[in-house]
Amino acid sequence: MSKSTIESILHEERLFPPSEEFALQAHITSLTQYQTLYDKAKEHPELFWAELAESELHWFQKWDKVLDWQPPFAKWFLNGKINISYNCLDRHLTTWRKNKAALIWEGEPGDSRTITYAQLHREVCQMANVLKDLGVQKGDRVGIYMPMIPEAAIAMLACARIGAPHSVVFGGFSSEALKARLQDAEAKVVITADGGFRKDKIVPLKSAVDEALQDNAVPSVQKVLVVQRTKQDIPMVGDRDVWWHELQPTASADCPPEPMDSEDMLFILYTSGTTGKPKGVVHTTGGYNLYTHVTTKWTFDLKDTDVYWCTADVGWITGHSYIVYGPLSNGATSVMYEGAPRASNPGCFWDVVEKYGVTIFYTAPTAIRAFIKMGDQHPNKRDLSSLRILGTVGEPINPEAWIWYHQVIGQEKCPIVDTWWQTETGGFMLTPLPGATPTKPGSATRPFPGIIADVVDLDGNPVGTNEGGYLVIKHPWPSMMRTVYKNDKRFRSTYWEHIPPKDGKYLYFAGDGARKDEDGYFWVMGRVDDVMNVSGHRLGTMEVESALVSHPAVAEAAVVSRPDEVKGQDVYAFVTLDSTHEPSDELKAELKKHVVHEIGAIARPGEIRFTDALPKTRSGKIIRRFLRNLAAGEELVGDISTMEDLSVLDKLRQG
Ligand code: WT7
Repeated sequence: MSKSTIESILHEERLFPPSEEFALQAHITSLTQYQTLYDKAKEHPELFWAELAESELHWFQKWDKVLDWQPPFAKWFLNGKINISYNCLDRHLTTWRKNKAALIWEGEPGDSRTITYAQLHREVCQMANVLKDLGVQKGDRVGIYMPMIPEAAIAMLACARIGAPHSVVFGGFSSEALKARLQDAEAKVVITADGGFRKDKIVPLKSAVDEALQDNAVPSVQKVLVVQRTKQDIPMVGDRDVWWHELQPTASADCPPEPMDSEDMLFILYTSGTTGKPKGVVHTTGGYNLYTHVTTKWTFDLKDTDVYWCTADVGWITGHSYIVYGPLSNGATSVMYEGAPRASNPGCFWDVVEKYGVTIFYTAPTAIRAFIKMGDQHPNKRDLSSLRILGTVGEPINPEAWIWYHQVIGQEKCPIVDTWWQTETGGFMLTPLPGATPTKPGSATRPFPGIIADVVDLDGNPVGTNEGGYLVIKHPWPSMMRTVYKNDKRFRSTYWEHIPPKDGKYLYFAGDGARKDEDGYFWVMGRVDDVMNVSGHRLGTMEVESALVSHPAVAEAAVVSRPDEVKGQDVYAFVTLDSTHEPSDELKAELKKHVVHEIGAIARPGEIRFTDALPKTRSGKIIRRFLRNLAAGEELVGDISTMEDLSVLDKLRQG
């Protein structure tokens, strides 16, 4: 985040209380009610969550202990038996919701499907049976690499139904990134599609799967289940690949849900950290189901009449928790859109809002800034009067974008919920409740009931009002990640050791900087580690560096973020070449392409700068701080006395 944004946030004093009309109809109707819930959850967390688990979810067998906390390992609802696909599907079939739209899907070329709860249940059972026929058993991992089509959600729910943890890999990741994730998860089956439509092009998903699996690179994978979407010609590999549309018609629609232990793994989702290797974040069943259910209901004030649309991709945690599991567990109508705003159709999102009468719209600041650039005429030409709540997630929202969202999209009548959370947290941690919390542009406001958050220094001591520090969570919550897949050590060191336990209490370290104002509102300022936030997507600087140095021309690379008007941050790479290569524009282009090949288009460096040497400390560590200043065109700040060779800086400054 740029310094100027931090300053403008610091001066933000506007307050937007919910209208009386909105508050009166809301699930949580006042700040007093929020405070009562918050206090109860703080004093009796186990009772608070147990009551909700009882009233909101179906359990095949009740738990015998609510929480087992052996820091940093938490277990929730011990010995409870539950299945999230049952809670998302079966239980609605005995109510009027049976024929309610569960998913409304809009394809990029303009095709569409509405799928009722009964239909979704049927297709999920069929896919679950197909997976069983392909040899998938409870506990086996299944990779999912899909476009934004209903079958992506169907695949997730089918895995959940039979107790096979899924690992969804974002369809924009390259075959190399897919390979690394499938290897780590040791997936047995991969579910993919021939392709998907995005920005008027076909994303060739199946060929990326073929590349990832080439030369038996992922020996655990036995079968690939392919959904037909684009219908372009693709090769099918002998006894490995099978078509969903050929198996579905004869697959039984009867598939009893597997009674899962509350702590059985539901999914692994890989996310970037401070090393070159993404972490497999592990989420389990009962606590995740409960927390995503309750946060969806209260934060979006969800009603049966709502048409809810989250614009994320199912490949990210936002799609898991707030397109699929949270909304469906509540029996909501969840909209899925395959495409993205593009030059040929800059108003496509507003067409979707108008066509389906979307009432709750949840997107990212980077998208909002892109809409501002495209011009008000696009939303202004559509009827957006159905909207009643707006949401944002992914990075701090600058107050200018917040106000535009409020005025142009929300017509000044929709509360905005700015939700701060992470892949690791499973669900919202800091968020307004729209009928209760007065909002301030740029602040994610207060913790959700049950979340004890604070801003502390590196010793774990709370910092003063409006002082910057590290955002931490002080008590376990139901949807917290359980570990890094196959790597408890990395789980400990990443989240629990930067700040030591305080008075025997463990603090979850989120990796974000923040401050708390005089009203107890949190202002998240962005990552404090070597993680970038490009268009709301997390990307490790080390990941991009490893991609660069895997190119034969590159001797060394240092990657930093640079402020960007639309993306929030952009990737800026400093590269030193080996002696046999000369800097050139062609080589720059080739290196950018190489990064896209290794990771995916989201990691494409906006700028590559060749240099003879990188600024380092005497112990050989690259001083990224200076590089960030250089990339942003700022004066160098900070102590240069630890530098090994001061002439390096002079050269870089001269460009
Ligand atoms: C990081 C988590 C959780 C879904 C999307 C990203 C940043 C997220 C906000 C917000 C300020 C935010 C943080 C966080 N972030 N939401 N409302 N305000 N920053 O999930 O990829 O796990 O990234 O995104 O830096 O640590 P993720």
